[in-house]
Amino acid sequence: MQDADGGAGAVVAFEHVTKRYPGSDQPAVDDLTLTVPAGEICVLVGPSGCGKTTTMKMVNRLIEPSDGRITIDGHDVTDLPAVELRRRIGYVIQQVGLFPHLTIGENVGVVPRLLRWSGARIAARTDELLELVGLPAAYRDRYPNELSGGERQRVGVARALAADPPVMLMDEPFGAVDPIRRERLQNEFLRLQRQVRKTIIFVTHDVDEAIKMGDRIAVLQRGGILAQYDTPAAILAHPTSEFVERFVGADRGLKRLSLARVRDLDLLDPVVVHAGEDRAEVRRRLDRTEALDFALLVDDGDRPLGWIDAGDLAGSGTIDPDAATPGAPTVQPETTLRDALSALLASSVQLGVVVDAEERVIGLVSVDAIGDRMRAPVTTADPSLGEPRIAEPEAAEA
Ligand SMILES: Nc1ncnc2c1ncn2[C@@H]1O[C@H](COP(=O)(O)OP(=O)(O)OP(=O)(O)O)[C@@H](O)[C@H]1O
Ligand SMILES: [Mg+2]
Repeated sequence: MQDADGGAGAVVAFEHVTKRYPGSDQPAVDDLTLTVPAGEICVLVGPSGCGKTTTMKMVNRLIEPSDGRITIDGHDVTDLPAVELRRRIGYVIQQVGLFPHLTIGENVGVVPRLLRWSGARIAARTDELLELVGLPAAYRDRYPNELSGGERQRVGVARALAADPPVMLMDEPFGAVDPIRRERLQNEFLRLQRQVRKTIIFVTHDVDEAIKMGDRIAVLQRGGILAQYDTPAAILAHPTSEFVERFVGADRGLKRLSLARVRDLDLLDPVVVHAGEDRAEVRRRLDRTEALDFALLVDDGDRPLGWIDAGDLAGSGTIDPDAATPGAPTVQPETTLRDALSALLASSVQLGVVVDAEERVIGLVSVDAIGDRMRAPVTTADPSLGEPRIAEPEAAEA
């Protein structure tokens, strides 16, 4: 797909960064060294108070390090003028933090206004960004309290993207929304990231979110010590310390299901039917498939309505939409297999309908297909990118 946003990411590097707050003998961040490759999402995860927000705020100099340095594409952030730094770094703060007295359009345009863009350019950029995050252009003139929590979250992302920064800092960006909406927002965000390819530092305290969102995960422990920095797969397969092992949890096997997405599976083709189609014809199509005992009823926009059991297709006449059993779980290509599995196990038909961003059917996923995928191999990241302070990984598991 065409890069919708023009900007590619930049390399962000922490070199022996330490932060000591006045009056505290223990550092909040202790000798942190890690490199985030351009265009990747690095998730900082760890218990409360372990220094995640401090680490993040040193990147855009809301906090100055006591020691060490942070570079963006090789430039020390302390050498960059503040305006230049703001242009290069988008920031999504915890709880979104939209300005309540500004309209959505004015909120999105905050940084471009600071950069003294023309009104016409800001207006055009605002429209473009609202479309990019999937909000109607008419939202421009609304106020934040006229939006749902998930919509506000998208405005927060649009605002951070406004000046097309190569780097984005996101502090618990989806912390305030309910689990179902969060799953959707995560998927949307991953889809957006495939287009914009920013370098993202993403803070969460939720291990499952870290595994889903991160190309790499930095696990921090109290005192701002980097316990492990690696791909989600490597961290789950080979936690390098007891702390990391405890932190990622006892259900590591199940968590590994979060590493693969629905889009990684070979999807089944459903037998798709519309109201008014000939029953005998649908019966013949179902007979030709081996795997399916159900046809999937869809509306005029190809959105799923429910299942029709082969047994209910006897006789002649046309398909009656009321005969469909509603409640087919829908998943998206970005849904993790772990989330897909929970959705499927909760439904009577153990098939999920895979839909695109417009809710149109693209295929089916089965519990068996997810089971097959559980035995996929694990990859390890380039160890030169970070310097974990604790023991090296042990020999690979069988
Ligand atoms: N302005 C400050 N002055 C003094 N100490 C601070 C300040 N800000 C944070 N700290 C301390 O530094 C440590 C790290 O704080 P930080 O906010 O970075 O943690 P965090 O990992 O983001 O935690 P949470 O998950 O709760 O948001 C904590 O012990 C905190 O009390
Ligand atoms: Mg914090």
